[in-house]
Amino acid sequence: MAKGADDDRWLVDLLEVQPDDRVLEVGSGPGVAIELIAARATRGLVVGVDPSDVMVRQATKRNRQAVQDGRVQLRQGSVSELPFADSSFTKALALHSIYFWPSVETGLRELCRVLSPDGRLAIGVRMYQPKAGGLNPSRYGLTDDQVQDITSALEHVGFRDVETQHRTLRRETITAILGRHP
Ligand SMILES: C[S@@+](CC[C@H](N)C(=O)[O-])C[C@H]1O[C@@H](n2cnc3c(N)ncnc32)[C@H](O)[C@@H]1O
Repeated sequence: MAKGADDDRWLVDLLEVQPDDRVLEVGSGPGVAIELIAARATRGLVVGVDPSDVMVRQATKRNRQAVQDGRVQLRQGSVSELPFADSSFTKALALHSIYFWPSVETGLRELCRVLSPDGRLAIGVRMYQPKAGGLNPSRYGLTDDQVQDITSALEHVGFRDVETQHRTLRRETITAILGRHP
């Protein structure tokens, strides 16, 4: 789980988080992106969902003050069944999490449901590098075809303005898949 925060920062930048935004991160892990978002959504709300109680505890520890202030909530749960009402969030993200979702389509449908009209979604994935060594996570990254499948799934569930952006951070190439709620 140890990695730099450059990819979190890039994905958060792409979402252009504003002070009043209500932002959901699925697969929030140790809460690094949550901390970055909470520094920007100063009058809004930041919610992290992760099935792992260990990750929820780590993220809570990292964001203790913002949790106490009620600006950050961290909950156990899965992208497949998000415990939120329709249109609860203005923005949502998932970084290095989609690899583990039981169903990409179900997860994307849930994210579409909880985003408000015009809400923005950013999904960050690591790209496959065939020559990466055994300990390099890029060895297990996604191929261009797998990214294409995700962009098609976004359009299939109703997201519009779907696009991808790429950035090389340290020795990895990260792809951001962006979409907007219909
Ligand atoms: C590699 S970690 C990434 C954590 C963090 N986003 C980051 O980039 O550091 C993947 C996270 O996805 C979570 N995850 C696994 N299955 C999930 C699901 N069904 N719904 C949401 N998150 C899930 C894992 O518990 C884990 O915290």
